[in-house]
Amino acid sequence: MDYETIKDSLYVNNVFLSKEIPKENYLRKLPVISNLKKMRGLKLTKPVTFFVGENGVGKSTLIEGIAVAMGFNAEGGSLNFRFSTRESHSRLHEYITVSRGYRRRKDGFFLRAESLYNVASNIDDLDHEPCPGPPIISSYGGVSLHEQSHGESFMALIENRFCGNGLYILDEPEAALSPMRLMRLMYCMKELVDRNSQFIISTHSPILMSFPDAEVIEITEEEIKSVDYKETEHFFITKRFMDAPEQMLKDLLG
Ligand SMILES: Nc1ncnc2c1ncn2[C@@H]1O[C@H](COP(=O)(O)OP(=O)(O)O)[C@@H](O)[C@H]1O
Ligand SMILES: [Mg+2]
Repeated sequence: MDYETIKDSLYVNNVFLSKEIPKENYLRKLPVISNLKKMRGLKLTKPVTFFVGENGVGKSTLIEGIAVAMGFNAEGGSLNFRFSTRESHSRLHEYITVSRGYRRRKDGFFLRAESLYNVASNIDDLDHEPCPGPPIISSYGGVSLHEQSHGESFMALIENRFCGNGLYILDEPEAALSPMRLMRLMYCMKELVDRNSQFIISTHSPILMSFPDAEVIEITEEEIKSVDYKETEHFFITKRFMDAPEQMLKDLLG
């Protein structure tokens, strides 16, 4: 499918810098921003987009900016979450414009690795307030996310709460998951994509980025470009290690 055909079916199909970032703002120095400035826009062309690249290039900043511009709470959660524990997010959303397709989304979630804890607390707090109807936790599997491990609560969230026709923005989801659960996540993603969902994910996982028909966008100091996942440094280094761990450890540690 060409871009013109697919773009209207995506909830987010383009991101561009639409306002000058002040000189003193650290955002200007981030590789993702200096490269975005040179581009006419960063097109998203598939239902699943991965942002990959070295630590510090600005992947989390970018996806958080997209999430906030799309109406999510900067600290994560569904579109209804409004809690704030501290103002640690950047103001990138003020300087970017996010283009949307025509399809209306019915669901959505923004998940930052470090804020699942706060999402869990917020659900518990809301459920302690008297309110009609079933408790919120019932849409998350019924067990407090605080009473499960990081990986268990993460999967409970995805399996119970993500229901399709949605935009899901995930920051390094692999941080919580065993390899087995990571594959479970990929299975869930496939089902959600088949139900008109879009994922925007930052990742270092060569397993996750192999998701069929996803677009892998690599951010480097010099550029932002679409790559084959097998061409990423992540894949190359992991493969080299797995092919000969002893040799690699010898090279590394002497
Ligand atoms: N408030 C801040 N002031 C200055 N630099 C910051 C601030 N917040 C984040 N940064 C810097 O922004 C850079 C990009 O961070 P991040 O988007 O988290 O990178 P990535 O997710 O690609 O690893 C980091 O090098 C970090 O030090
Ligand atoms: Mg990050």
